[in-house]
Amino acid sequence: MEKLVGLCLNRGFIYPSSEIYGGIAGFWDYGPLGTEMRNNVKAAWWQRMVRERDDVVGLDSSIIANPQTWVASGHVANFHDPMVDCRKCKRRFRAGQVDVDDRCTASDDGKHELTEPRQFNLMLKTRIGAADDSAGEAYLRAETCQSIFLDFKRVMQSGRMKPPFGIAQIGKAFRNEITPRNFIFRSREFEQMELEFFTPPANAMDWFERWREIRMRWHYDIGLTPAKLRWHAHAADELAHYAKAAFDVEFEFPFGWHELEGVHHRGDFDLRQHSEHSGKDQSYTDPEAKERYFPFVVETSVGVDRCMLALLSSAYCEDEVGGEKRVVLRLTPQIAPIKAAVLPLSKKLSEPAEKIAADLRRRFAIDFDVSGSIGKRYRRHDEVGTPFCVTYDFESEQDQKVTVRERDTTQQERIALSELPSYLSTRVLGY
Ligand code: GAP
Repeated sequence: MEKLVGLCLNRGFIYPSSEIYGGIAGFWDYGPLGTEMRNNVKAAWWQRMVRERDDVVGLDSSIIANPQTWVASGHVANFHDPMVDCRKCKRRFRAGQVDVDDRCTASDDGKHELTEPRQFNLMLKTRIGAADDSAGEAYLRAETCQSIFLDFKRVMQSGRMKPPFGIAQIGKAFRNEITPRNFIFRSREFEQMELEFFTPPANAMDWFERWREIRMRWHYDIGLTPAKLRWHAHAADELAHYAKAAFDVEFEFPFGWHELEGVHHRGDFDLRQHSEHSGKDQSYTDPEAKERYFPFVVETSVGVDRCMLALLSSAYCEDEVGGEKRVVLRLTPQIAPIKAAVLPLSKKLSEPAEKIAADLRRRFAIDFDVSGSIGKRYRRHDEVGTPFCVTYDFESEQDQKVTVRERDTTQQERIALSELPSYLSTRVLGY
């Protein structure tokens, strides 16, 4: 984990937010490579969940909604974590999560003297407008899905959809976590990719199982090893206040098995709650069966940041090439931030090599790298997961071919320049 965090910091994946002021716990910035990679994760999710389906449409709603939303959703009353304080060092912890390295600095034996757990609401508050009273109080959303429920009827009508159909959204969520920790695993600002799938009640369990299968397949396809993924079924006392049934996709992070994604059977909790609280009927009438009902909801909810951590930690590898140690990120070409690096063998060859890079840039994220020995440049790109290095050498001038080196096998082949875009397209995009 330490090595991975170092790499993320030094190579432009992830930095502490507002670092020059000492940072701020639970907030992170994504650097140039982290941003590219994040965009690839979100694009892979959107492609599978929205673009490849005719029963799912997208939404991009506001982060702040009418505060009544969070009363109706149950977050104001129920979205709590148990919190304890140390009477000696005054630090706060989530109950049951005081690690061995969380030693008390105010006691001789390092042991905390903890208070009884108290409930702590995780909603982050903000204030809107000029008035300095409670009328302006609002919340930063704690999950992206609530606006999907609020917009359910509008989307259904304008999109000419009817159950079973889904609404998908990618967006920021905020939680005032008591102890943000494990790098980007638990932060206070994070991004979710959520699908709410509305189905007739009788088919909900069927769809629940179908979505579980689709979601696990997606994790395999973006490059997570099946051996590091497993299901965890929620016992009755673990279920969130809205859930009838729930399964977590768990991943074996460097600090153990933890939730990566949640698949929830939410029943008709949300549409009913919002109907009651708003006074606007959110039920659906099936025109053929002449049947009125509140659609049941199957939800799939995964954090972009947790996906990033799972992908980075499972891709991180140290091996040897020609007797020399190297660090390599074995990311799939789809997820890798840079798809290919164009490397002129000598500075004298920069001009034609730059032209190749410019041409490829119209379709792919490309890096042009001219400094250092070719071996050093390969290592630099192995470390950030670039799947292909394209070397333009003196022979290229004559035969109009380049050497393409593969990151994982380090094998090299000569490819005609005219075939390079289609070669990369097949290897990176799969077509
Ligand atoms: N709408 C349902 C919902 O929000 P959740 O299990 O609380 O369910 C879903 O969150 C996913 O969001 C989690 O599986 C995780 O990937 C991500 N997530 C939740 N809290 C997070 C946090 N504090 N930091 C980073 N990711 C988080």
